[in-house]
Amino acid sequence: MSDYALELLSISCTFHSKDDPGQRYTAVADTTLRVRAGEFVSVVGPTGCGKSTLLNVGAGLLEPSSGTIKVFGQALQGVNARAGYMFQTEALMPWRSAIDNVLVGLQYRGVPDAQAREQAEAWLSRVGLSGFGDRYPHQLSGGMRKRVALAQTLVLDPDIILMDEPFSALDIQTRQLMENEVLELWSAKKKAVLFITHDLDEAIAMSDRVVVLSAGPATHPIGEFVIDLARPRDVAEVRTQPRFVELHTQIWEVLRDEVLKGYAQQLRKAA
Ligand SMILES: Nc1ncnc2c1ncn2[C@@H]1O[C@H](COP(=O)(O)OP(=O)(O)OP(=O)(O)O)[C@@H](O)[C@H]1O
Ligand SMILES: [Mg+2]
Repeated sequence: MSDYALELLSISCTFHSKDDPGQRYTAVADTTLRVRAGEFVSVVGPTGCGKSTLLNVGAGLLEPSSGTIKVFGQALQGVNARAGYMFQTEALMPWRSAIDNVLVGLQYRGVPDAQAREQAEAWLSRVGLSGFGDRYPHQLSGGMRKRVALAQTLVLDPDIILMDEPFSALDIQTRQLMENEVLELWSAKKKAVLFITHDLDEAIAMSDRVVVLSAGPATHPIGEFVIDLARPRDVAEVRTQPRFVELHTQIWEVLRDEVLKGYAQQLRKAA
Protein backbone atom coordinates (compact mmCIF):
# COMPACT_ATOMS: atom_id res chain seq x y z
CA MET A 1 0.00 0.00 0.00
CA SER A 2 1.09 3.54 -0.70
CA ASP A 3 2.63 5.61 2.08
CA TYR A 4 0.55 8.47 0.83
CA ALA A 5 -3.09 9.02 1.61
CA LEU A 6 -3.46 11.71 -1.02
CA GLU A 7 -1.30 12.61 -3.99
CA LEU A 8 -1.97 15.48 -6.36
CA LEU A 9 0.44 14.91 -9.22
CA SER A 10 1.32 17.61 -11.76
CA ILE A 11 -2.08 19.25 -11.42
CA SER A 12 -3.05 22.14 -13.67
CA CYS A 13 -6.41 23.91 -13.67
CA THR A 14 -7.43 26.29 -16.42
CA PHE A 15 -10.78 28.03 -16.29
CA HIS A 16 -12.71 29.63 -19.13
CA SER A 17 -14.11 33.05 -18.47
CA LYS A 18 -17.93 33.06 -18.19
CA ASP A 19 -18.26 36.31 -20.15
CA ASP A 20 -15.77 35.43 -22.85
CA PRO A 21 -15.27 31.65 -23.26
CA GLY A 22 -12.24 32.33 -25.47
CA GLN A 23 -10.47 33.87 -22.52
CA ARG A 24 -8.68 31.43 -20.21
CA TYR A 25 -7.16 31.71 -16.79
CA THR A 26 -4.68 29.16 -15.51
CA ALA A 27 -5.17 29.17 -11.77
CA VAL A 28 -2.91 26.24 -10.87
CA ALA A 29 0.03 24.98 -12.93
CA ASP A 30 1.95 21.74 -12.59
CA THR A 31 1.46 21.35 -8.86
CA THR A 32 2.48 18.23 -7.00
CA LEU A 33 1.36 17.88 -3.41
CA ARG A 34 1.43 14.76 -1.26
CA VAL A 35 0.02 13.98 2.17
CA ARG A 36 1.12 10.87 4.04
CA ALA A 37 -1.31 8.79 6.04
CA GLY A 38 -1.49 10.41 9.48
CA GLU A 39 0.27 13.57 8.37
CA PHE A 40 -0.99 17.12 8.95
CA VAL A 41 -0.05 19.31 6.00
CA SER A 42 -0.96 22.97 5.62
CA VAL A 43 -0.98 24.92 2.40
CA VAL A 44 -0.53 28.68 2.66
CA GLY A 45 -0.70 31.20 -0.13
CA PRO A 46 -2.09 34.62 -0.93
CA THR A 47 -5.78 35.18 -1.44
CA GLY A 48 -7.08 34.06 -4.82
CA CYS A 49 -4.00 31.97 -5.62
CA GLY A 50 -5.77 28.64 -6.05
CA LYS A 51 -5.93 26.99 -2.62
CA SER A 52 -9.63 26.11 -2.73
CA THR A 53 -9.19 24.97 -6.32
CA LEU A 54 -6.54 22.46 -5.24
CA LEU A 55 -8.68 21.22 -2.38
CA ASN A 56 -11.64 20.75 -4.71
CA VAL A 57 -9.39 18.69 -6.96
CA GLY A 58 -8.35 16.52 -3.99
CA ALA A 59 -12.00 16.06 -3.03
CA GLY A 60 -12.81 14.93 -6.55
CA LEU A 61 -15.27 17.82 -6.96
CA LEU A 62 -13.27 19.52 -9.70
CA GLU A 63 -11.58 17.71 -12.54
CA PRO A 64 -8.17 19.25 -13.26
CA SER A 65 -7.24 20.22 -16.82
CA SER A 66 -4.28 17.88 -16.49
CA GLY A 67 -2.60 15.77 -13.83
CA THR A 68 -3.48 12.76 -11.70
CA ILE A 69 -4.94 12.31 -8.23
CA LYS A 70 -4.17 9.23 -6.19
CA VAL A 71 -5.90 8.14 -3.02
CA PHE A 72 -3.96 5.55 -1.05
CA GLY A 73 -2.12 4.70 -4.27
CA GLN A 74 -5.24 4.31 -6.44
CA ALA A 75 -6.14 6.74 -9.20
CA LEU A 76 -9.16 8.78 -8.11
CA GLN A 77 -12.27 8.64 -10.20
CA GLY A 78 -15.23 10.80 -9.31
CA VAL A 79 -15.76 12.04 -5.78
CA ASN A 80 -13.14 11.12 -3.18
CA ALA A 81 -15.12 8.82 -0.90
CA ARG A 82 -12.20 8.48 1.56
CA ALA A 83 -12.20 12.22 2.24
CA GLY A 84 -14.27 14.49 4.47
CA TYR A 85 -14.44 18.13 3.42
CA MET A 86 -14.92 21.16 5.63
CA PHE A 87 -15.72 24.06 3.33
CA GLN A 88 -14.51 27.64 3.48
CA THR A 89 -18.04 28.97 3.50
CA GLU A 90 -20.84 28.01 5.89
CA ALA A 91 -22.18 24.74 4.61
CA LEU A 92 -24.81 23.79 7.20
CA MET A 93 -28.37 23.30 6.02
CA PRO A 94 -30.39 26.06 7.70
CA TRP A 95 -33.59 24.00 7.71
CA ARG A 96 -32.02 21.16 9.64
CA SER A 97 -31.22 21.15 13.34
CA ALA A 98 -27.61 20.68 14.49
CA ILE A 99 -28.04 16.97 15.03
CA ASP A 100 -29.79 16.52 11.69
CA ASN A 101 -26.92 18.34 10.01
CA VAL A 102 -24.40 16.04 11.68
CA LEU A 103 -26.19 12.86 10.71
CA VAL A 104 -26.98 13.71 7.11
CA GLY A 105 -23.88 11.95 5.75
CA LEU A 106 -24.66 8.82 7.73
CA GLN A 107 -28.20 8.86 6.32
CA TYR A 108 -26.78 9.02 2.80
CA ARG A 109 -24.69 6.01 3.64
CA GLY A 110 -27.79 4.14 4.71
CA VAL A 111 -26.90 3.85 8.40
CA PRO A 112 -30.10 2.98 10.34
CA ASP A 113 -31.63 6.06 11.92
CA ALA A 114 -31.21 5.14 15.59
CA GLN A 115 -27.57 4.27 15.07
CA ALA A 116 -26.92 7.43 13.04
CA ARG A 117 -28.51 9.54 15.77
CA GLU A 118 -26.39 7.89 18.44
CA GLN A 119 -23.15 8.51 16.50
CA ALA A 120 -24.15 12.09 15.75
CA GLU A 121 -24.92 12.74 19.45
CA ALA A 122 -21.52 11.33 20.38
CA TRP A 123 -19.80 13.67 17.93
CA LEU A 124 -21.79 16.68 19.04
CA SER A 125 -20.61 16.04 22.57
CA ARG A 126 -17.03 15.50 21.41
CA VAL A 127 -17.07 18.98 19.88
CA GLY A 128 -18.56 20.45 23.06
CA LEU A 129 -22.16 20.75 21.89
CA SER A 130 -24.08 18.09 23.79
CA GLY A 131 -27.51 19.50 24.52
CA PHE A 132 -27.43 21.75 21.44
CA GLY A 133 -28.62 19.12 18.96
CA ASP A 134 -32.11 20.64 18.61
CA ARG A 135 -30.86 24.11 17.76
CA TYR A 136 -30.99 25.36 14.21
CA PRO A 137 -27.90 26.96 12.66
CA HIS A 138 -29.28 30.51 13.09
CA GLN A 139 -29.66 29.82 16.82
CA LEU A 140 -25.96 29.02 17.19
CA SER A 141 -22.92 31.31 17.34
CA GLY A 142 -20.39 31.30 14.50
CA GLY A 143 -18.00 29.17 16.58
CA MET A 144 -20.77 26.70 17.41
CA ARG A 145 -21.72 26.43 13.74
CA LYS A 146 -18.10 25.59 12.93
CA ARG A 147 -18.20 22.91 15.64
CA VAL A 148 -21.30 21.40 14.05
CA ALA A 149 -19.55 21.45 10.66
CA LEU A 150 -16.54 19.74 12.24
CA ALA A 151 -18.75 17.03 13.76
CA GLN A 152 -20.52 16.66 10.40
CA THR A 153 -17.17 16.00 8.73
CA LEU A 154 -15.66 13.73 11.39
CA VAL A 155 -18.72 11.58 12.10
CA LEU A 156 -18.06 9.85 8.78
CA ASP A 157 -14.63 8.83 10.05
CA PRO A 158 -12.84 9.87 6.85
CA ASP A 159 -9.25 8.72 6.30
CA ILE A 160 -8.44 12.06 4.71
CA ILE A 161 -9.66 15.37 6.09
CA LEU A 162 -9.73 18.39 3.80
CA MET A 163 -10.20 21.73 5.54
CA ASP A 164 -10.49 25.04 3.73
CA GLU A 165 -9.75 27.96 6.06
CA PRO A 166 -12.27 26.53 8.49
CA PHE A 167 -11.73 29.03 11.29
CA SER A 168 -10.84 32.22 9.47
CA ALA A 169 -14.17 33.90 10.30
CA LEU A 170 -13.81 33.31 14.05
CA ASP A 171 -12.46 35.64 16.71
CA ILE A 172 -8.95 34.81 17.82
CA GLN A 173 -9.87 33.18 21.16
CA THR A 174 -12.54 30.92 19.68
CA ARG A 175 -10.21 30.15 16.85
CA GLN A 176 -7.38 29.04 19.12
CA LEU A 177 -9.75 26.89 21.17
CA MET A 178 -10.97 25.18 18.03
CA GLU A 179 -7.47 24.74 16.64
CA ASN A 180 -6.45 22.99 19.85
CA GLU A 181 -9.57 20.83 19.71
CA VAL A 182 -8.83 19.81 16.14
CA LEU A 183 -5.26 18.90 17.12
CA GLU A 184 -6.53 16.82 20.01
CA LEU A 185 -9.04 14.96 17.83
CA TRP A 186 -6.40 14.48 15.15
CA SER A 187 -3.79 13.12 17.56
CA ALA A 188 -6.28 10.51 18.79
CA LYS A 189 -6.91 9.14 15.30
CA LYS A 190 -4.05 10.40 13.13
CA LYS A 191 -5.86 10.90 9.86
CA ALA A 192 -4.24 12.57 6.87
CA VAL A 193 -5.11 16.27 6.94
CA LEU A 194 -4.78 18.80 4.16
CA PHE A 195 -5.42 22.16 5.77
CA ILE A 196 -5.74 25.36 3.77
CA THR A 197 -5.11 28.70 5.40
CA HIS A 198 -3.66 32.08 4.64
CA ASP A 199 -2.61 32.47 8.26
CA LEU A 200 1.02 31.45 8.60
CA ASP A 201 0.90 31.28 12.41
CA GLU A 202 -1.99 28.85 12.24
CA ALA A 203 -0.24 26.75 9.61
CA ILE A 204 2.95 26.41 11.66
CA ALA A 205 1.16 25.81 14.96
CA MET A 206 -0.97 22.99 13.56
CA SER A 207 1.16 21.16 11.01
CA ASP A 208 3.88 18.63 10.39
CA ARG A 209 4.65 20.30 7.09
CA VAL A 210 3.84 23.66 5.50
CA VAL A 211 3.71 24.14 1.73
CA VAL A 212 3.87 27.70 0.36
CA LEU A 213 2.09 28.50 -2.92
CA SER A 214 3.04 31.30 -5.27
CA ALA A 215 0.61 34.06 -6.20
CA GLY A 216 -1.49 33.33 -9.31
CA PRO A 217 -1.76 32.96 -12.21
CA ALA A 218 -0.15 29.55 -12.66
CA THR A 219 0.15 28.99 -8.94
CA HIS A 220 2.57 26.29 -7.82
CA PRO A 221 4.48 25.37 -4.66
CA ILE A 222 7.55 27.51 -4.04
CA GLY A 223 8.61 26.22 -0.66
CA GLU A 224 8.12 23.36 1.73
CA PHE A 225 9.01 23.35 5.41
CA VAL A 226 9.05 20.55 7.96
CA ILE A 227 7.66 21.78 11.28
CA ASP A 228 9.78 20.03 13.88
CA LEU A 229 8.00 21.43 16.95
CA ALA A 230 7.20 18.86 19.65
CA ARG A 231 3.65 17.58 20.09
CA PRO A 232 1.25 17.81 21.78
CA ARG A 233 1.10 21.51 21.04
CA ASP A 234 -0.97 24.31 22.41
CA VAL A 235 -1.43 26.68 19.49
CA ALA A 236 -1.15 29.78 21.67
CA GLU A 237 1.87 28.63 23.66
CA VAL A 238 3.80 27.18 20.75
CA ARG A 239 4.00 30.65 19.19
CA THR A 240 6.32 31.80 21.95
CA GLN A 241 8.93 29.11 21.30
CA PRO A 242 12.18 30.29 19.67
CA ARG A 243 11.94 27.52 17.05
CA PHE A 244 8.46 28.72 16.08
CA VAL A 245 9.77 32.24 15.58
CA GLU A 246 12.67 30.89 13.53
CA LEU A 247 10.38 28.85 11.27
CA HIS A 248 8.03 31.81 10.94
CA THR A 249 10.87 34.05 9.80
CA GLN A 250 12.07 31.47 7.26
CA ILE A 251 8.65 30.83 5.77
CA TRP A 252 7.58 34.48 5.77
CA GLU A 253 10.71 35.25 3.78
CA VAL A 254 9.26 33.08 0.98
CA LEU A 255 5.60 34.04 1.43
CA ARG A 256 5.93 37.82 1.79
CA ASP A 257 6.58 38.67 -1.87
CA GLU A 258 3.74 36.40 -2.99
CA VAL A 259 1.30 38.04 -0.61
CA LEU A 260 2.27 41.45 -1.97
CA LYS A 261 1.85 40.21 -5.55
CA GLY A 262 -1.54 38.66 -4.72
CA TYR A 263 -2.69 41.88 -3.10
CA ALA A 264 -1.58 44.00 -6.06
CA GLN A 265 -3.49 41.69 -8.40
CA GLN A 266 -6.67 42.04 -6.39
CA LEU A 267 -6.37 45.81 -6.55
CA ARG A 268 -5.88 45.61 -10.31
CA LYS A 269 -8.95 43.34 -10.65
CA ALA A 270 -11.00 45.80 -8.63
CA ALA A 271 -9.85 48.82 -10.67
N1 LIG B 1 -14.98 27.92 -11.57
C1 LIG B 1 -14.16 28.94 -11.84
N2 LIG B 1 -14.22 29.65 -12.98
C2 LIG B 1 -13.37 30.66 -13.27
N3 LIG B 1 -12.37 31.04 -12.43
C3 LIG B 1 -12.24 30.39 -11.27
C4 LIG B 1 -13.11 29.30 -10.89
N4 LIG B 1 -12.74 28.84 -9.67
C5 LIG B 1 -11.68 29.61 -9.30
N5 LIG B 1 -11.37 30.52 -10.25
C6 LIG B 1 -10.26 31.49 -10.19
O1 LIG B 1 -9.08 30.78 -9.85
C7 LIG B 1 -8.30 31.51 -8.92
C8 LIG B 1 -8.08 30.70 -7.67
O2 LIG B 1 -9.30 30.60 -6.93
P1 LIG B 1 -9.39 29.89 -5.51
O3 LIG B 1 -10.77 30.02 -5.03
O4 LIG B 1 -8.83 28.53 -5.62
O5 LIG B 1 -8.39 30.80 -4.64
P2 LIG B 1 -8.04 30.72 -3.08
O6 LIG B 1 -6.56 30.62 -2.99
O7 LIG B 1 -8.84 29.66 -2.44
O8 LIG B 1 -8.50 32.17 -2.57
P3 LIG B 1 -9.00 32.62 -1.09
O9 LIG B 1 -7.79 32.64 -0.22
O10 LIG B 1 -9.51 34.01 -1.32
O11 LIG B 1 -10.03 31.65 -0.64
C9 LIG B 1 -9.03 32.83 -8.69
O12 LIG B 1 -8.46 33.80 -9.52
C10 LIG B 1 -10.44 32.52 -9.09
O13 LIG B 1 -11.09 33.69 -9.57
MG1 LIG C 1 -10.32 29.70 -0.98
